[in-house]
Amino acid sequence: MTDNRPADTSETSTVTDAVRRHDPAVRGFASDNYAGVHPEVLAAIALANEGHQIAYGEDDYTAHLQDVFKAHFGERAQAFPVFNGTGANVVALQALLPRWGAVVAAETAHFNVDEGGAPEKMAGIKIHTVPTPDGKLTPELIDRQAWGWGDEHRAQPLAVSITQSTELGTLYTPDEIRAICDHAHERGMLVHVDGSRLSNAAAALGLPFREFTTDAGVDVLSFGGTKNGLLGGEVVVVLNPDTVKNITFLRKTSMQLASKMRFVSVQFEALLAGDLYLRNAGHANAMAKRLETAVAAIDGVTVVRPVQANAVFAILPREVSERLQKRFRFYFWNEHTGEVRWMCSFDTTEQDIDAFAAAITEEMGR
Ligand SMILES: Cc1ncc(COP(=O)(O)O)c(C=O)c1O
Repeated sequence: MTDNRPADTSETSTVTDAVRRHDPAVRGFASDNYAGVHPEVLAAIALANEGHQIAYGEDDYTAHLQDVFKAHFGERAQAFPVFNGTGANVVALQALLPRWGAVVAAETAHFNVDEGGAPEKMAGIKIHTVPTPDGKLTPELIDRQAWGWGDEHRAQPLAVSITQSTELGTLYTPDEIRAICDHAHERGMLVHVDGSRLSNAAAALGLPFREFTTDAGVDVLSFGGTKNGLLGGEVVVVLNPDTVKNITFLRKTSMQLASKMRFVSVQFEALLAGDLYLRNAGHANAMAKRLETAVAAIDGVTVVRPVQANAVFAILPREVSERLQKRFRFYFWNEHTGEVRWMCSFDTTEQDIDAFAAAITEEMGR
C-alpha cells in the first residue's frame, strides 16, 4: 500500500525566509478549498502589487471589476468584493431582510449547516428550513415555510435562498430558478443565490451566468472564487438594485470590508475577464465525471447522487472508507449512513482520479 501523505518535504528558497512545509504533489478529495491558487491568479496578484492605491475599494481594480461583472450579469449588476463565502451570505441575506425577517432555504443550505450559525449570530436571521431529496427547493417546497405573513408570532418569510450548484452536487436549470423567483416575488419574497460554485454550474449547463441568475429574476448573489482557483475572495453581486440596497454599510459592519481590496478584485478580473472560470470549473466537473465512471465499475461502491458538477457522493463499506482516508483525504458526509463526499478541484489530475479509483479497488478487495 502506498501512502500519499508527505514525509519531510521541507524546501528552502533564496527569495523568502519561509520554508515549504508540504508536499506539493499530494492532492485529495476532501474539498475544493484544499487546492492551491491558480498560477494566472497568482500572476494577477503580483501584477497589482507595488505602488500605492486607495484603500477600502476606491482602487482602479475594484472600479474596473464593475465592468467585468456587468459583462457577465447585465448593466445593472453591482459587485461588492468580500473575504469569504460565509461573509457574502451574511451580507446578502441582511440586505434582503428587515429585523423581523426570515429566509426559506433547503435544510442542506451551507449557511444552515456549515457556517457555525453565522446568519443567526451575526445578523439575527431566522432560517426556515425545508427537507429536500436533492438539495433543491421548488415552489411547492418553499410553500411549506412561506406562510404566516402578518402574524407577529412568526419570523416573517421574506426571502428565499437557493444554492447553485447545490451542496449535494446537483444543478438547477434556468427554468427551475425562474419558477422559484416568480413564485417568491408573487409572495413579496426576494431571492438570494449562494453561488459559491456558480462557475461549476455555468460550465455544466453550458450557459452564460446571466441566463440562470439575472434573467431568471434573482435579486442578489454570493459569487464564489476561492473554490475555483483564487487565493481568497467572494463577491456579493446585486442584480436588482431597486430592492437590494446599502451593501456598503452591511459589508463594513459585517467585518467584510477589505482595506487592500485591489488584491481581491484583481483575482476576479483574472478569473472572469477571459475564460479561466470556465477552464477551472469545467475541468473540476470533468474530473468528477471521470471519478463517477471509474467507481461505477467497482463492486460494492454506489454513487448515490447525480454527478452534475464537481462532487461525487458514494456509499461503500465504512471500514474501506476509513482505510482509504489514511491514503487520501476526504470526509464522511453523513456519519449515520456512511455516505462519503469526494470533491474535485481545478488542479485534480486524471492520474489523481485513476490512482484513487485503483486504491478503492485495492481496499475493497482486502
Ligand atoms: C455552498 C457554499 N456556500 C458558502 C460557503 C462558505 O464559504 P467560506 O468557507 O469561504 O466562508 C461554502 C464553503 O464550503 C459552500 O460550500
